Amino acid sequence: MHFLTRPLCASLLLLCHAQTALSDLGMVVNDDASLKKGAQEIIAPMMIFYKQNQTEGIPGKLTDTWYVAGSMFMTLIQYWQASGDDSNNDVVSHDLMFQAGENYDFFSANYSQWLGNDDQMFWGLATITASEAGFPEREGKPSWTSLARAVFNEQVGRWDSQVCGGGMRWQVWPYQAGYQLKNAVSNGGLFALAARLARFTKNNTYTEWADKIWDWSAKSGLLDVTKWLVNDSVNNDDQCKTPDSLQWSYNYGTYLSGAAFMYNYTNGDEKWLKRVNGLLGTTLQTFFPQKYGSNVMSEVACEPIMTCDRNQICFKGYLAMWLAFTSILVPSTKDQIMPKLQGSMEAISKMCNGQSDGQNNLCGLTWGENKFDGVKGLEAQMAALGGVTANMMLLTAESPNTIDSNPGAKEHNVPSSGSGQDPSEPKPITTADRAGAWILMVIMVAGITGSVGWLVKP
Ligand SMILES: *[C@@H]1O[C@H](CO)[C@@H](O)[C@H](O)[C@H]1NC(C)=O
Ligand SMILES: *[C@@H]1O[C@H](CO)[C@@H](O)[C@H](O)[C@H]1NC(C)=O
Ligand SMILES: *[C@@H]1O[C@H](CO)[C@@H](O)[C@H](O)[C@H]1NC(C)=O
Ligand SMILES: *[C@@H]1O[C@H](CO)[C@@H](O)[C@H](O)[C@H]1NC(C)=O
Ligand SMILES: *[C@@H]1O[C@H](CO)[C@@H](O)[C@H](O)[C@H]1NC(C)=O
Repeated sequence: MHFLTRPLCASLLLLCHAQTALSDLGMVVNDDASLKKGAQEIIAPMMIFYKQNQTEGIPGKLTDTWYVAGSMFMTLIQYWQASGDDSNNDVVSHDLMFQAGENYDFFSANYSQWLGNDDQMFWGLATITASEAGFPEREGKPSWTSLARAVFNEQVGRWDSQVCGGGMRWQVWPYQAGYQLKNAVSNGGLFALAARLARFTKNNTYTEWADKIWDWSAKSGLLDVTKWLVNDSVNNDDQCKTPDSLQWSYNYGTYLSGAAFMYNYTNGDEKWLKRVNGLLGTTLQTFFPQKYGSNVMSEVACEPIMTCDRNQICFKGYLAMWLAFTSILVPSTKDQIMPKLQGSMEAISKMCNGQSDGQNNLCGLTWGENKFDGVKGLEAQMAALGGVTANMMLLTAESPNTIDSNPGAKEHNVPSSGSGQDPSEPKPITTADRAGAWILMVIMVAGITGSVGWLVKP
């Protein structure tokens, strides 16, 4: 923590208490060193939470959630690229690869029976981020790109053409609550993954899918390409006729960043520029409320009423980094985006001054409050880190790598030991998976009807 007022404290004890309570991380716009130091102070408690919350003793598996660690690794990899600070790389590299699981597809049998497509998608984004950032590969393991491709291939295998003319369902299995929904983050997230794989690998399969997912989203009620609104989900049960119109920052971020990658990859296609500008307009208008001077990001659907759950606390950090990508990849957007990210960082600098249970520099939920609002945890630290990292990305303005600049990230890179199967090839759903899913479904149905009696009837 910064105590800029320490000399004053020493001489004027009375003022000391008030001044330390107001102390902020001392991060200053365009001052790279101050941003890096502030980020480090945000990361320290985040990594303590990370260790504490691996209560099952499995690397990269947090209690009651699986994907959050994946999005934390995504954030730390981006931070590493923007700052050069590699002090977390060993943990990130090991634990990220560990969670790729037994088939190197982020669909380990430990968790696969209760996952949403969006859960797996976040690990895909973490690994494409690693490829773009030039994050060191792991000896004898598949390349990060191969893992991202494995996620992509599995996900497109679940594309549902049966109802509403296409789309990714929220959940993977029919017995899960929410299986009937097609939500923005599963579709926008896969769109962004496809766009980034397209730009990274220059393989046309990904370009075609990016187009396909965008086009379906724009037809389905998820994306309004006249008003540039992103709805949260549509429902197969009513032919996708009554969308849920809750407004979430990360939904906008997935479609916006994907469009920015496509714009850059297509060397400035007007079609993508129009989409970037359209979505950017509503994103900046919706999530930077006047209440905080229009330059500080807010999760408007839950923040004002303090009901954000652990997932929603994270969203602003993602949007911040995806806005930074947009500014880098679509240079004409930079002047609009910069003040929004800078204002957010200045708010974060003031807000991350919470103290609790012997920990310092705790960040809260509401950046615009300019002080800690009492919401603490890994998620709040991660969102703030995303906000600071976005500012460092603007300063370095480094273009995300492609295979040309990161030739180490070969597309097909098979583990030297193990099955020898290319992990990026789609894996058929095995009988064991199906059996497991079926058993779970039976258990759940039994639970719903409140009795297992019928199970033993002949
Ligand atoms: C799956 O669970 C087992 C048993 O708890 C554990 O040893 C293993 O590391 C887990 N694998 C992953 C990828 O979490
Ligand atoms: C392009 O990507 C797709 C999907 O991962 C893969 O099936 C195909 O083999 C790739 N093409 C080339 C030329 O690598
Ligand atoms: C989004 O949802 C709202 C409210 O349900 C609806 O009025 C709007 O038309 C939806 N957007 C699209 C593109 O369908
Ligand atoms: C793509 O991104 C690079 C890196 O920021 C930038 O220099 C280039 O101008 C972008 N391409 C287009 C067409 O804007
Ligand atoms: C996990 O982290 C939260 C903060 O997000 C903390 O309050 C909680 O005690 C941790 N859980 C465990 C089991 O350590």
